[in-house]
Amino acid sequence: MIIANWKCNGSKAMTNTWVNNFLTNYDETKKAFIGIAPPSIYIQRLLETELNKLAEINIGSQDIDISSGARTGAISSDMILDFDCKFSIIGHSERRQLFNETNEEIKQKILKIAKKTITILCVGETREENKNDQTRDILKKQLEVVKDIELNNSLVIAYEPVWAIGTGNTPTPNNINEIHKFIKDVVQSTSYNSEYPMVLYGGSVNQENAKSFFKEEFVDGALIGGASLDGKEFANIINIFNETN
Ligand code: PGA
Repeated sequence: MIIANWKCNGSKAMTNTWVNNFLTNYDETKKAFIGIAPPSIYIQRLLETELNKLAEINIGSQDIDISSGARTGAISSDMILDFDCKFSIIGHSERRQLFNETNEEIKQKILKIAKKTITILCVGETREENKNDQTRDILKKQLEVVKDIELNNSLVIAYEPVWAIGTGNTPTPNNINEIHKFIKDVVQSTSYNSEYPMVLYGGSVNQENAKSFFKEEFVDGALIGGASLDGKEFANIINIFNETN
């Protein structure tokens, strides 16, 4: 599973160029789940492109709100489903840090959407926490949001160390592998029906380093920010994933 998170980037013109560059470079002989999360205002536009002819390509949202109604600026889970989105990212560290999102809100969002569509829950420690050897404790705390929730194979975890996002720094592939195994075990022992989730790695993944991560046993794919803004590079990363798996 390879997911593009465009964050707050894009334009009508960029969308057209991106789709052309992607389709020219994407090798569709193997069909891993591919997700693209543009800013919500561009979802409909992407759904109307040639991408939609490829069954393995799924358009999704970068977030949902906890409910509908009097919540100016928000987008609800029902709206995302109404537009046929096939997944939603939840709990990205930028949402936690810039929009003060709490674990409690993240849990409410999971309850809204996890049974209805694929939910990619982001977790990860800060540089400070990493230096202080608190990574596992922090992840365990963030993963408490799945406690006692019944999941139906819809939950995917993205391990995104905050210090690796957009910085060019990453943990070693071996470190990532160990943390992914830890995350799978924690979710399995915490969720109501012992779900053993897929775990994606996110944080400065690009076409140069992707293979080193994809070779690891417990790395089930990637969540990609910066490098996903170039349709050609994103296609190359998917091709590398398909060759490695
Ligand atoms: P990055 O972002 O690939 O630009 O580091 C990843 C993310 O925030 O999901």
